[in-house]
Amino acid sequence: MNPVPVLAVDGPGGSGKGTVCRLVQARTGWHLLDSGAIYRALAVAAGHRGMDDGDGDAVAELAGSLDLSFEPDAQGGGVRVILDNTDVTEELRSEGTGSLASRLAAIASVRDALLERQRAFRKPPGLIADGRDMGTVVFPDATVKVFLTASPEERARRRHKQLKEQGVNVNLPGLLQEIAERDRRDSSRSVAPLMPADDATVVDTTGRSIESVVDSVLGLLGRQCRIR
Ligand code: DC
Repeated sequence: MNPVPVLAVDGPGGSGKGTVCRLVQARTGWHLLDSGAIYRALAVAAGHRGMDDGDGDAVAELAGSLDLSFEPDAQGGGVRVILDNTDVTEELRSEGTGSLASRLAAIASVRDALLERQRAFRKPPGLIADGRDMGTVVFPDATVKVFLTASPEERARRRHKQLKEQGVNVNLPGLLQEIAERDRRDSSRSVAPLMPADDATVVDTTGRSIESVVDSVLGLLGRQCRIR
């Protein structure tokens, strides 16, 4: 048994996972795995090489040899994503990258190739793992599993606000359609579909403040292990 505790936080895009995980990280001092960023970085790398979801074998090979690192952002306090010695943080956020990431993520050999890279983030004092299959596939023995949800309309509104703050211009109806399409693809794929683990606590964040969701998650975590 791996003694390093893991908090697995799964759920669809816009459910508040990223923000909740960052706030829980600030409160616990645990490491953070943003697994979506790994899939997105793979999409950027594949896009640069002209690969698409029809090139499964080549993309899986690329996934196994990705030259990828996460570095603290000296200015914003966040994380910069470095791929092939180039900062791709901005490119990672685009809806085009998200959409290609979702299509590549449906390929079983691609997911397999990224498994160990994700598990390597599990280091003391603990790991907060943000994704779609953290509690079901990557860390099935996670100490606490949370599945965050919110209505598609609320998730589209949140994503819209977030992208606007980042200077990315997108229209709300288009975003809602993109979210619905990505949900459908992520939930219906045959490998590691987006769904709560049997032992996950499902938390609906619609209409709830981020602070109250963070308190709920910390409450669940505090019942299982010691947090500072
Ligand atoms: O969380 P995100 O929007 O950054 O993730 C981008 C895509 O990557 C998402 O649509 C599906 C895929 N993904 C996945 O399949 N499994 C994960 N653990 C994380 C992301």
